[in-house]
Amino acid sequence: MRDAPSGDIICRPPDLALIVPTYKEADTVEEMVRRVTSALDGLDWELIVVDDDSPDGTAERVRAMARRDPRIRVIQRVGRRGLSSACIEGMLATSAPFLAVMDGDLQHDESLLPRMLRTIEEESLDIVVGSRYVDGGGVGDWTARRRSMSRLATRIGQRLIHAELQDPMSGFFLVRAAVIQSCVRRLSGVGFKILLDIFASAGRPLRFRELPYTFRERHAGSSKLDKAVLWEYLLMLVQKLIGPLIPVRFIAFSLIGGLGVLVHMMVLWPILSLFGDTAFLAGQTAATLVAMTSNFFLNNLLTYSDMRLRGRQLLWGWFSFVLTCSIGALANVGIANHLFQEGHSGWFLSALAGILVGAVWNYAVTAVYTWKRPAAAR
Ligand code: GDD
Ligand code: MN
Repeated sequence: MRDAPSGDIICRPPDLALIVPTYKEADTVEEMVRRVTSALDGLDWELIVVDDDSPDGTAERVRAMARRDPRIRVIQRVGRRGLSSACIEGMLATSAPFLAVMDGDLQHDESLLPRMLRTIEEESLDIVVGSRYVDGGGVGDWTARRRSMSRLATRIGQRLIHAELQDPMSGFFLVRAAVIQSCVRRLSGVGFKILLDIFASAGRPLRFRELPYTFRERHAGSSKLDKAVLWEYLLMLVQKLIGPLIPVRFIAFSLIGGLGVLVHMMVLWPILSLFGDTAFLAGQTAATLVAMTSNFFLNNLLTYSDMRLRGRQLLWGWFSFVLTCSIGALANVGIANHLFQEGHSGWFLSALAGILVGAVWNYAVTAVYTWKRPAAAR
């Protein structure tokens, strides 16, 4: 506490805000809070746990601790998923000048935090990264497969950001709030790789240092790093290459749409070869339905992996998707035909224009009606 110029007593913001994203970490989160509290003893800090409405009650456990210690807070996001976006929201929810991000499953080494804070201040850096791949760091007992996957992703990451960062995939770092505030609108926010995203979006080379730590084994709960994470990593790379103007979901949606053409032909072809040309109308109808259905499920799995429809929602989702895409197909054919009949553009350009209009329509409408998202997530 200190005196404000007007004479009122005000609270100073803490020096350090520690952001911890969690999903289903009820078994470890309390121990994490205890360890953080003791590791940061003597510093001026706050802890923000960003929980995506974990069904195991993670948020409630943290809230119970927050009732006894106001330095602890919870942001509970409902109907949302995503490690990167959770970190971003946490980082924007504080006025502390320094922000640290750390996992909630005890795999990161919280005892490194005070040294990270000292280093960033003393060496006037933008960011300090907890690194598994500098001398003294390590990954513990990883399988050869996970080790080599991590290596590969690391190399691709290094090329993307043109920085000699040994561990660009680390999810453990401490950064100046000003750096985040200046690039937050350029962050892709997709997937797991928030650190890479920050380096790629900063708009200038960041002054950084890596401090070694050993990635601990997970003792409770389970990793959320599954195959979809690989896909999200790919999407983030694409987004960085094409720039922020075209939404990354649209790219995913279009790629899946392209795949749909393949599915379509794979259904139509055997029907025609079995029943002959008279079956074209029936075959084309069946192929269209199958392709739409497979596109719906692929989009639900990949494009909207963070807001996947499940159970009964799937039926309505499928129905609204097929309905939207049917209208999209009508618009596509109508526009292509109109352009072609006018005679200014040849068959190829006319067809392309039709496809583009259809794709944008399908994307825009299903984004609102099929995968109903909170406005803030769009
Ligand atoms: N809010 C939120 N939303 N948190 C999430 C989500 C989500 O959708 N998915 C995962 N988390 C939380 C987990 O609860 C955990 O605290 C942290 O994010 C890391 O997730 P893990 O599932 O434990 O990831 P990991 O151990 O496989 O991956 C770690 O290593 C990577 C390097 O290989 C993480 O530290 C990554 O950040 C790191 O890049
Ligand atoms: Mn983990």
